[in-house]
Amino acid sequence: MELSVQLQQAQILGYRHFKDTVASRNRRIRSGHLLRAKAYEVEYGGYALTILPGVLDPTTGEGSLIMLECRDLFVGDRVLDMGTGSGNLSILAAVKSGHIVAVDISPVAVECAQMNVRRHGLTERIDVRLGDLFAPLRPDEKFDLALINPPFLEGKPRAGIDRAMMDPEYDMLTRFLQNVGKYLTPAGRVLLCFGCVGDLAYLHNLIALCGFACSIRKARVTLGLQFFVYELTILPSQGG
Ligand SMILES: C[S@@+](CC[C@H](N)C(=O)[O-])C[C@H]1O[C@@H](n2cnc3c(N)ncnc32)[C@H](O)[C@@H]1O
Repeated sequence: MELSVQLQQAQILGYRHFKDTVASRNRRIRSGHLLRAKAYEVEYGGYALTILPGVLDPTTGEGSLIMLECRDLFVGDRVLDMGTGSGNLSILAAVKSGHIVAVDISPVAVECAQMNVRRHGLTERIDVRLGDLFAPLRPDEKFDLALINPPFLEGKPRAGIDRAMMDPEYDMLTRFLQNVGKYLTPAGRVLLCFGCVGDLAYLHNLIALCGFACSIRKARVTLGLQFFVYELTILPSQGG
């Protein structure tokens, strides 16, 4: 699907309906997380996961769910899982990939991902690191595939869980797309999910400005809201 067509389709939804649905969806997800004071168990893609308070529960996140539908595309010798949360995408990627580096800025997310990685006997294959985007990587590290389910909403986080849902001025998304190319092999790919609850026009512009070729690998509609998985590759003219 053309990106412009996809954007028009998202805009066809009446603005009021759209705004109400988005606001109530976000309140529901956020309050569900804030009410949880203790660790709990979920099942995601056939894997039992422990979710610590303050970490995104992948069974409630549209991004996590549409990424699950694309698990067959998680193939690569070396995979980067940016913003790993509970480690859910890394654990899926371990089925068809070699080594995985999982990064999160949240100490509790890193603790949670490490627990889940240990639980599934994957500590030799999944290396969980704490830090802001690429800071925990060596400058010469290269990946065949980068996975990212970023916060979809532009805004200022208040509670801990907000950092999984909100990105002030799309700073994380912008810095990720501006810099990920340096960490990809020449044939490297990015699988990124996003939804019409966020600013699709901003994302599409950023993808073009950062010099990626883009195709949509999956589209899904929930409560009249559209969610997508994009595959990005480096355009030959941008390669080193
Ligand atoms: C929407 S959640 C995705 C969690 C998990 N990957 C999934 O698909 O369910 C976004 C994650 O990005 C992390 N994050 C936000 N800003 C970040 C940054 N600057 N560097 C690394 N991780 C970040 C958050 O802590 C959160 O765990």
